[in-house]
Amino acid sequence: MTAAVHLEGITKTFRVLDEEAEGGRIRGGFFYALDGISLDIERGVCTVIAGANGSGKSLLMSIIAGLEEPDSGTVEVREKTGLVFQDADSQILGETPREDVAIGIRGKPFARKAEIPPLVEASLRDTGLLSRADFPSRFLSGGEKRRLSVAGVLAMNAGIIIFDEPYANLDYPGIVQVNTLIRDLPAKNKTVVILTHELEKCLALAKRFAVLFEGKLVFDGTPAESLKTPLEDWGIHHPLRGSSRLEELIWL
Ligand SMILES: Nc1ncnc2c1ncn2[C@@H]1O[C@H](COP(=O)(O)OP(=O)(O)OP(=O)(O)O)[C@@H](O)[C@H]1O
Ligand SMILES: [Mg+2]
Repeated sequence: MTAAVHLEGITKTFRVLDEEAEGGRIRGGFFYALDGISLDIERGVCTVIAGANGSGKSLLMSIIAGLEEPDSGTVEVREKTGLVFQDADSQILGETPREDVAIGIRGKPFARKAEIPPLVEASLRDTGLLSRADFPSRFLSGGEKRRLSVAGVLAMNAGIIIFDEPYANLDYPGIVQVNTLIRDLPAKNKTVVILTHELEKCLALAKRFAVLFEGKLVFDGTPAESLKTPLEDWGIHHPLRGSSRLEELIWL
């Protein structure tokens, strides 16, 4: 296996205000947001990293992308990383999709002026947005906005694409749109990482699977192996916990 990302002993702490507090993730006056994470992310495949709210997913993503520094540990990221944020609106700057993708690559050393329009067009075509290229961005649907974020990342030629909660606020067709895009990325030599707690929507797309629980890595294996683990103890809904009775559908 060749790893696109190699993490060893990553720890990130934050000082707590209540000096007396101890126990759980708090030790010696510090909250352990990430606690000794060692993980290799395989190149050219899709990895799902699951974890409940606050387990450390977004922080881990920020460290991989170089937006945050760990307190200790080793981070080796062997390709350019592109992030698709949970809130697609915060990532869209252009009035139209065409302008938005162009903004991201303007002035970048890899894109000479004449190369920008064809690069923008190719990214919009790859994400199924070419027909919307000159529409106002604010009128795009949630799924289209998320695809536009991906178009921006593709145009920047990122080898690693990290999706933070890609299904948030999406209806069924939106989820299908995003998943269709994600499914085809490994064939284009992209390394895909999905951070989510919604396994039923993506586990079948993944080759590798990891779980974060309270800042610690508690599982690292294949999706099939994970189905035999106590996912619910880690705050994650088991994707195959199906039911044929309506009253069992209650999320309580
Ligand atoms: N700058 C910070 N200062 C203090 N605590 C922080 C900071 N950044 C993150 N944390 C804490 O670290 C923990 C992990 O946060 P993170 O955002 O990575 O969780 P997450 O797994 O992405 O959760 P969610 O599913 O809700 O998005 C949280 O308890 C959060 O409050
Ligand atoms: Mg998060």
